[in-house]
Amino acid sequence: MAKERTFSILKPDVTRRNLTGAVNAAIEKAGLRIVAQKRLHMTRAQAEAFYGVHKERPFFGELVEMMTAAPVVVQVLEGDNAIARYREVMGATNPEKAAPGTIRKEFALSMGENSAHGSDAPETAALEIAQFFSANEIVG
Ligand code: RTP
Ligand code: MG
Repeated sequence: MAKERTFSILKPDVTRRNLTGAVNAAIEKAGLRIVAQKRLHMTRAQAEAFYGVHKERPFFGELVEMMTAAPVVVQVLEGDNAIARYREVMGATNPEKAAPGTIRKEFALSMGENSAHGSDAPETAALEIAQFFSANEIVG
């Protein structure tokens, strides 16, 4: 299996409830390595750019509000098949449909406040990592 990198965000519902360490423990327990990490408060422009693919969707305004409401933790995760593996570890977008033991099942509050983001493909992972990290901030 190829070693891969994915981009992760611990969303405002996680930082607000002081669950950063609990979610990181789940990530590490799943065999993913946190090779870059920082806490920041997203600007509206950053959130709109990050979720630009969803700008025509009815939930876009709510999504941008939610992502800018409190700090987030942005991360680069590394491991075998990291992109698919992290989406498995996060669970379904809707926490009611997420499998037991997944981050969203254990921690998410709703479809919107669903605790974590993970890239969905190698191309988006590379773009998302570059939006928040320079190469010298990622230490594998
Ligand atoms: P993400 O991009 O955050 O990793 O989540 P995802 O791929 O599982 O879901 P996606 O369809 O890309 O949606 C992005 C985020 O938008 C919010 N959302 N709200 N209220 C709603 O119906 C709704 N649908 C999506 C969630 O925060 C979702 O993670
Ligand atoms: Mg997505």
